[in-house]
Amino acid sequence: MSDKIKFTIDGVEIEADSGQTIMQAADKAGVYIPRLCAHNALTPHGSCRVCTVRVNGRPQAACTQPVAPGIIVENDTEEMKKNRINIVDMLFVEGNHFCMFCEKSGNCELQAMAYRLGISAPSHEYLFPKRELDASHPDIFIDRNRCILCGRCVRASKELDNKNVFQFIGRGINKTIAVNAESKLSETDMKGVDLAASACPVGAILKKRVGFTIPVGQRLYDSKPIGTDIEAVSAESDK
Ligand code: FES
Repeated sequence: MSDKIKFTIDGVEIEADSGQTIMQAADKAGVYIPRLCAHNALTPHGSCRVCTVRVNGRPQAACTQPVAPGIIVENDTEEMKKNRINIVDMLFVEGNHFCMFCEKSGNCELQAMAYRLGISAPSHEYLFPKRELDASHPDIFIDRNRCILCGRCVRASKELDNKNVFQFIGRGINKTIAVNAESKLSETDMKGVDLAASACPVGAILKKRVGFTIPVGQRLYDSKPIGTDIEAVSAESDK
């Protein structure tokens, strides 16, 4: 007997393995569900809520919700799009994101998500918070102005680097990313090659001395919208 589970996303039947999340099954089928805090190599965290879909009518995070036989998932709907625009809008205004001066521009998942969702300017008021920089480390630079608190660096440090360099401190509007040291990143055991640095979806953790190696205009999302790599899977199987 097959262990395959069948369910639908926006009316399209998807096959999944038991134990997969909705996002994993969707990715495999070439259906893109927008996300920011999820990362293929990391345990899902369910914190950004960009991946929220309706499952049998109830909002659920697709990155953490397991598949079940016959569930009806709504992903690419006006309601979900509005929800995602709202979240991305808020992420932009609650930090200090100056894309045109940011080394991550063109490779940034937040910027790419905004383009994909058709956001040209946030509809909420900018908060212009005061955030700390940390340039103490010889190879890595932290700019908390651009941090979206996705926690990917926290999980990557633990799960991929077997360290514990990053953690969250504070609550609500005061929540911020901190390093596991008295004050600065240079006091931790972080190395320039650690995967925690490359797990950052935005320009909050950057490697020094590699800025603008790839010219603006030739970067990951300069020519292809975010998610098209996943959608290419279904385009390929439709041929
Ligand atoms: S991607 Fe699922 S909550 Fe962030």
